[in-house]
Amino acid sequence: MSTLPVLTTKRLILREISILDLQDMYEYAVLPYVGPEAGWKPHTSIEETLNIIRMFIETNKKGDVGVWAIVDKQQGKMIGTIELYNYVNRYKAEIGYVLNPSYWGKGIVVEAGEAILQYAFNTLGLKRVEAGVFVDNHQSIRVCEKLGFKKEGVARKGYLRYDGQIFDKVVFGITDDDFKERY
Ligand SMILES: CC(C)(COP(=O)(O)OP(=O)(O)OC[C@H]1O[C@@H](n2cnc3c(N)ncnc32)[C@H](O)[C@@H]1OP(=O)(O)O)[C@@H](O)C(=O)NCCC(=O)NCCS
Repeated sequence: MSTLPVLTTKRLILREISILDLQDMYEYAVLPYVGPEAGWKPHTSIEETLNIIRMFIETNKKGDVGVWAIVDKQQGKMIGTIELYNYVNRYKAEIGYVLNPSYWGKGIVVEAGEAILQYAFNTLGLKRVEAGVFVDNHQSIRVCEKLGFKKEGVARKGYLRYDGQIFDKVVFGITDDDFKERY
């Protein structure tokens, strides 16, 4: 049984990812300029997307937080994912997200991220949430800044991607104290 709650915002529903999201996820997972920015290889078949969704569902069942589908309320369409992972000793976690490019530039992931941070700090009682972003991923850096994360440093050559490329990784963090001050 998953422990992921449904979270609702003005424009979005964040809910457990499902096999029914297959087509919607494939739509963006196959694009060459989406996954690599988040460190994963673009999908080459719908079966690959199915396997990833199955893996997410298994992760969610384990209960160490997990992957939410981002659903556009108006269209009822799954348009991305947002996750909390590396849930260390129940005191901190990392955040990750990806959005279908048709929805970029509307502040969607910031809206979803605010709901996830509220859940992380107010419900789970975390002390810290981290994000690791490639130095040239301007879009994601802006998301972190808008969510109130602080840039803590750069892990030089800190990320080896699936394709062998090595990236400098910006480390962002937000603590429970930062969160209380801001929200
Ligand atoms: C990172 C990502 C989730 C941002 O989501 P989003 O909801 O579009 O974010 P925002 O609307 O807040 O826009 C963030 C910045 O992207 C830029 N941007 C806006 N629209 C854009 C577009 N259509 N194309 C490219 N960049 C755009 C702007 O600089 C914006 O900052 P601003 O609000 O200060 O102008 C999304 O770009 C994405 O899925 N990227 C690929 C996967 C990825 O990088 N994941 C994160 C890994 S750490």
